[in-house]
Amino acid sequence: MKFVSNTVEQTEQIAGKLAENLSLGDTVLLYGSLGSGKTTFVKGLCRKFLIEMVKSPSYVILKIYHGKNLTKNDKCVIYHIDLYRLEQMGQINGGEIAEYIFDENAIKIVEWADRLSEKMLPEKNIKVKLEIIDDKNRKITIINQTEEDI
Ligand SMILES: Nc1ncnc2c1ncn2[C@@H]1O[C@H](COP(=O)(O)OP(=O)(O)OP(=O)(O)O)[C@@H](O)[C@H]1O
Ligand SMILES: [Mg+2]
Repeated sequence: MKFVSNTVEQTEQIAGKLAENLSLGDTVLLYGSLGSGKTTFVKGLCRKFLIEMVKSPSYVILKIYHGKNLTKNDKCVIYHIDLYRLEQMGQINGGEIAEYIFDENAIKIVEWADRLSEKMLPEKNIKVKLEIIDDKNRKITIINQTEEDI
C-alpha cells in the first residue's frame, strides 16, 4: 500500500489504520532517513493502544509501553526499539535485542530497522518505508509480509 501524507496528523492517522490490524507477535519494521517521520508513525500507532508517547533521550534503545487493545479488549505490550545509536546497516546479529524482537507476546516496532541483519527479521513482519518528498510531504509504503502484498 502506498500513501502520501502532507501533515504530521495524517502520518499518525495512517499509522493508526495499520495499528487496527496488528496482533501480538507482529513486528513493524520502519525504514527512512533522519526526520522522515518514523517516530511520528510510532506515536500514531501507539495512540490506538491508548499509549501517549513522551519524548525521551535518543540513547534509549528500548522502550516498553503497556497499552490496551480496544478491538480485542485485552492488554497489549509494545516494544519500541530505536536502533539509531547502534552500529551500521545490517550489523545487528543477535544479542539482547533478539529477545525482544522475537517475543510473540508483544507488538514490536523498530526504528532504523536496516541496522538489523537478515536473521534478525521476524518472519511475520510489516515493513514501513518513509520517504521525504519535501518539508511537508512524506511517501509512506507499507508492505505486509503476511499478505504477500509486495
Ligand atoms: N507529513 C509529515 N509526516 C511526518 N512528519 C512530518 C511531516 N511533515 C513534516 N514533518 C516533520 O518531520 C519531522 C519528523 O520527525 P520524526 O521524529 O517523526 O522523524 P524520525 O524519522 O523519527 O527521525 P529520526 O531519524 O531522527 O528518529 C518532524 O519535525 C515533523 O514535524
Ligand atoms: Mg525517530
